[in-house]
Amino acid sequence: MYNSKIIGLGKYVPDNVVTNDDLSKMMDTNDAWIQERTGIQERRWIKAGTNDTSATMGAKAAKIAIERASLTKDDIDFIVFATLSPDYYFPGCGVQIQDLLDMPTIGALDVRNQCSGFVYAISVADQFIKTGMYKNILVIGAEYHSNGLDKTTRGRGVTVIFGDGAGACVLTREEDTTKGILSTHLHSEGKYADKLIVAGPSIAHWVPEIIEAGDEDVSYFPYMDGTFVFKHAVVRFSEVIIEGLEKNGLQKEDIDMLIPHQANLRIAQYIQSKFKLRDDQVFNNIMKYGNTTAASVIIALTEAWEEGKIKAGDNVVLAAFGSGFTWGSAIIKW
Ligand code: ACO
Repeated sequence: MYNSKIIGLGKYVPDNVVTNDDLSKMMDTNDAWIQERTGIQERRWIKAGTNDTSATMGAKAAKIAIERASLTKDDIDFIVFATLSPDYYFPGCGVQIQDLLDMPTIGALDVRNQCSGFVYAISVADQFIKTGMYKNILVIGAEYHSNGLDKTTRGRGVTVIFGDGAGACVLTREEDTTKGILSTHLHSEGKYADKLIVAGPSIAHWVPEIIEAGDEDVSYFPYMDGTFVFKHAVVRFSEVIIEGLEKNGLQKEDIDMLIPHQANLRIAQYIQSKFKLRDDQVFNNIMKYGNTTAASVIIALTEAWEEGKIKAGDNVVLAAFGSGFTWGSAIIKW
């Protein structure tokens, strides 16, 4: 048995900054409402006419991660790609990365677990490394939300929250099982699928149906019961962090850095106060990027590392909650 450890991190966000004031020109919203409810000041949205997608942003983040790992694309044994906004209905983005980075014909897998996508993806990669099947795995989280949002007042409750971006890491084999990813914890509760959903286009909600229904059919835009999501998120975040700490004999005081999924600053602040963590023990960047779903944890982890906020020996906790519902955590000895 081995552990896996992160040896390279990268991120890519589009240049195009969309402020809350920019949104207020598209729909009936305002900076004060958005900041007070979500903490978001601005987000990045791919500019129309540029060629970025989830796959291309993921490839850009991946190149940086591979380089920082001091590896080449030919050293990677497997790809795991988390997104809810793939370029195509099928095939998934993982195989596009294999092509975009001109990699050997290694396996590639897509994970469809929304805001928990990156935590699920890193857990899958960790298992492949723990069993000895693969040595170096590229794990990517990327989202191109902006093209699928309702940019009218009808969609304002959801649209103001989401941003585009990508993050990636390289996981490698670690012989010392007291280091690296110590454990991961994954959960789901599918009875709440309709609380945060894009129902179509899908096989069950196919395009002709949507076209026939006309503009009134909003099943192809995200629907969110925000209050319901909030209530479940704060409970599940807490539970899954405690589950991870207990599994490893750690107390909440032992957390050196908590990287929560950047859902909403109020959720992160609730968790911070519940666990009595100082500001330097929790990393948030939702203010700049909004909620980038499967990309948010890996973008935040990358940025925390780039800013020197994570050092060798730290107990780093990743935690996420999202549509499905799904939730999870990863406990890492850096
Ligand atoms: N700008 C201005 N007004 C708005 C906007 C907007 N963008 N959106 C909604 N409103 C209005 C509503 O129409 C409503 O008006 P009314 O009282 O006249 O009917 C009022 O603001 C309050 O609306 P609520 O939906 O009740 O607002 P709430 O205070 O619940 O805040 C929010 C909404 C921020 C989504 C909140 O429910 C929340 O934090 N939910 C957590 C869910 C979350 O974080 N989701 C992120 C994505 S999922 C994930 O990552 C896990």
